[in-house]
Amino acid sequence: MNFHTRKWVKPEDLNAHGTLFGGSLLRWIDEEAAIYAIVQLENPRCVTKYISEINFMSSAKQGDIIELGMKATHFGKSSLTITCEVRKKLTHETILKIDKIVFVSLDENGKPAPHGKTQIEYVSDRLADRNESEE
Ligand SMILES: CC(C)(COP(=O)(O)OP(=O)(O)OC[C@H]1O[C@@H](n2cnc3c(N)ncnc32)[C@H](O)[C@@H]1OP(=O)(O)O)[C@@H](O)C(=O)NCCC(=O)NCCS
Repeated sequence: MNFHTRKWVKPEDLNAHGTLFGGSLLRWIDEEAAIYAIVQLENPRCVTKYISEINFMSSAKQGDIIELGMKATHFGKSSLTITCEVRKKLTHETILKIDKIVFVSLDENGKPAPHGKTQIEYVSDRLADRNESEE
């Protein structure tokens, strides 16, 4: 699992009890997962279709640095399933786990479109392949 994005918990991210507001965290997760899906499927028209049970395991407080981890677990025809973990950057204490976030790749008419992908790819490898074929 890659933990690309770090967030610094600020006053505007807190709930009434002074800990990280779940809604703020879910917004960050949905954006991070969307970016992950867009990069993997090479299609900017990816939408969230389904999010499984969300397990909030521990809380974060103002000043904590947290990191968002994503990993593709299943490539369907038009869909991509991602698993997610959020943890504290400095202690690796788990804050939240989501087993499945499903994105669907769409065509220009908003209909599910086959993405043709079957495994995790890295942008650096794609660029290297393109450079090789141009040489
Ligand atoms: C995404 C959308 C176009 C899919 O339409 P649909 O009629 O459900 O499409 P399909 O039944 O052909 O399913 C498309 C894919 O999603 C998967 N899927 C559909 N419902 C699912 C569910 N409940 N859980 C997991 N996967 C699901 C299907 O298995 C299929 O995957 P595959 O092509 O890899 O086999 C439509 O549901 C939609 O527009 N939803 C709103 C999306 C949105 O606005 N998201 C932002 C949230 S605010």
